[in-house]
Amino acid sequence: MNKVIGKPINRVDGKLKVTGGARYTTDIPIENLTYGVLIESTIAKGKITKLETTATETAPGVLAVITHLNVPKFNQITFFPGGQSLPILQDENIYYQGQHIGIIVAETLEQAQYAATLVKVEYQIEQPTIDIDEALKQGYKPERIFLGMLPAHSFRGDINSGRSQAEVLVEQTYSTPMENHNPIEPSATLAVWEDDHLTLYDTTQGVSSTQAAIAKVFDIPPEKVRVISKFLGGGFGCKAFVWPHTILTTLAARYVQRPVKLALTRAQMYTSVGYRAPTRQHLTLGATKDGKLTLLQHIGETITSPFDEFPEPVTMATNMMYGCPNLDTNYHLGRINAGTPTFMRAPGEAPGMFALESAMDELSYALELDPIELRLRNHADVDPATGNPWSSKSLKECYQRGAEIFGWKHRNPKPASMSNGDSLIGLGMASATFPANSFPATAKVTIYNSGEILVESGTQDLGTGTYTVMTQVAAEVLGVSLEKVEFKLGDTNLSKAPLTGNSTTASSVGTAVQAAAMSARNKVLEMAISDSDSPLYQAKPEEIIFDSGKLLWQNNPTVGESYRDILSRHSLENIEAVGNNASKQKQQEYAKHSFGAVFVEVQVDRLLGEVRVTRCVGVYGAGRILNAKTARSQMIGGITWGIGMALMEHTVMSPQYGRILNHNLSDYLIPVQLDVPDIQVQFVEEEDPYVNALGTKGIGELSIVGVAGAIANAVYHATGKRIRDLPITPDKLLKGE
Ligand code: MOS
Repeated sequence: MNKVIGKPINRVDGKLKVTGGARYTTDIPIENLTYGVLIESTIAKGKITKLETTATETAPGVLAVITHLNVPKFNQITFFPGGQSLPILQDENIYYQGQHIGIIVAETLEQAQYAATLVKVEYQIEQPTIDIDEALKQGYKPERIFLGMLPAHSFRGDINSGRSQAEVLVEQTYSTPMENHNPIEPSATLAVWEDDHLTLYDTTQGVSSTQAAIAKVFDIPPEKVRVISKFLGGGFGCKAFVWPHTILTTLAARYVQRPVKLALTRAQMYTSVGYRAPTRQHLTLGATKDGKLTLLQHIGETITSPFDEFPEPVTMATNMMYGCPNLDTNYHLGRINAGTPTFMRAPGEAPGMFALESAMDELSYALELDPIELRLRNHADVDPATGNPWSSKSLKECYQRGAEIFGWKHRNPKPASMSNGDSLIGLGMASATFPANSFPATAKVTIYNSGEILVESGTQDLGTGTYTVMTQVAAEVLGVSLEKVEFKLGDTNLSKAPLTGNSTTASSVGTAVQAAAMSARNKVLEMAISDSDSPLYQAKPEEIIFDSGKLLWQNNPTVGESYRDILSRHSLENIEAVGNNASKQKQQEYAKHSFGAVFVEVQVDRLLGEVRVTRCVGVYGAGRILNAKTARSQMIGGITWGIGMALMEHTVMSPQYGRILNHNLSDYLIPVQLDVPDIQVQFVEEEDPYVNALGTKGIGELSIVGVAGAIANAVYHATGKRIRDLPITPDKLLKGE
């Protein structure tokens, strides 16, 4: 029985955060600090023909100006763990607007910023490729997707026979725009060299991967690089890899032999740390009259940078979502003059499921079938890609419970049939899914003879609640109160943990913490039952429970003793144990995914075309939920982002110059309080014995999936207008079909 796991525990770091005690990267006090400012290319393609920095170098307070003309030697980073592979400051070539062409270091930030205004650059300008259609003309079929981990082309059955069996066909193209990450904390690096030893305070989602990458770049052993990331104000993928500004800051600190701090501006966030690539998705759905899919074809067209291959993996969910025997999914990729795209919350699933779930909605109207019923008729009882059983799946319950809470049965299925004054009302739904992965992780647990517990793992907390849920897992296993547990993370000096990404931290690190805590408590247990001075002498391990900081006899809980008693009697100051998440289960025999169903009500202003989301219900089956409150917050955050994706977000590049025109939060719109209705989130209780020892499947990215599709479907239901191009802005609705 769980005492603290699953409970809506307040964040253990909440007080630190609201009192300003939580020090984010740029808050770290460092003596003798200097400030870095980047010099960026103002053109998108061409060459630097003249770079004049004399006035910059002699400006007040300037300590260094590093450009391709005077850059010291260092090794170049590769794509993954680097965000991109373009060599940094190695020649005069320009591939995108915002490319870093130098760094200025000065005594103060203002001096560095002023000095940057004195740099004079002349260019030989070439016409950049910006337009996706133009890029695709020169495009090609990539072999692999997802950092080379998956084949680009997936297929099963025979699509020609799938087409001939189809009595109803939906063939449509859906598109999503370029989108940028906007964590509230922009990326920043603070580099401190002491002789050949480097301490890097960095806004990274992966201290270990950053350590390994930076050690290679600067040709020093990893042990001499310490990376620290204690608090993050969001990451969402743009802090997953090592981007050029981190390398430049580290290089500059070595050059001036003083600590350097560099924080990206909001505008620089749009060109320095990746983005979600725009997509064009061709969907063909074929079905029999009774609503059984006979054909699923999904071709994703997208773009990447001139130098790396990162196709937004839009077809991944299509491959496994529905039980269709004939499937073909593939990619077509072009190159534009922009930096390399990167992971952004639910990479692939977020835009891919917008397209698939819009197409499913279109099919439901073509068949005159309820959209939920259509999905139920094509429910994948096993993973259609592999034939493997699911480790757990509650999608049917998600549909059912969501429909009930939302009041789906009150929906008149006819489009444009519901209204309230000048508002057309629409109800829409969509499915959600995300893989339940995990990566190798370790953790260390120390039980002190004071009764205090220290848990350590070099993982990260993006703001999602890692500190809190790991504290809960340790407290649960050890049978102590939360206050007794301190959880340390975000430091390469701690035991090794993976990148925080792909919704895997609760699963990977949580399982390692659980294992380490079990191992620590078993060591103490062993000491007690083998000690004739213990009241638990000769007890069997399975007869002992752990509660209130004590080991107790299950049959008679008045008999027992505390961790403190046992350690003190053995004159031990503490006892340590390490654990990892290596599992003995044959996991590959199960397909592991979280699932969910999203229901949305919209009101569309008949005259202005403005869409308001007025209600939202999300029901999810995501394995064991470690903390009801932080989990709900995660889902609300992702659904809110889904509203932005559906109705607002859109990075605009000037087609002529390749400049991002809306690189700030007043022009790049994201939802604010008034754009977000009451969001109801529920989790279906799931016990998944196969996914990992903790039974968690991950929720962070699942939360955004399906939301844009549900909103687009609700807009169609409200208006009878199918908008297949995100975001759904008033101009598109007023223009009509
Ligand atoms: Mo996430 S997009 O894997 O940080």
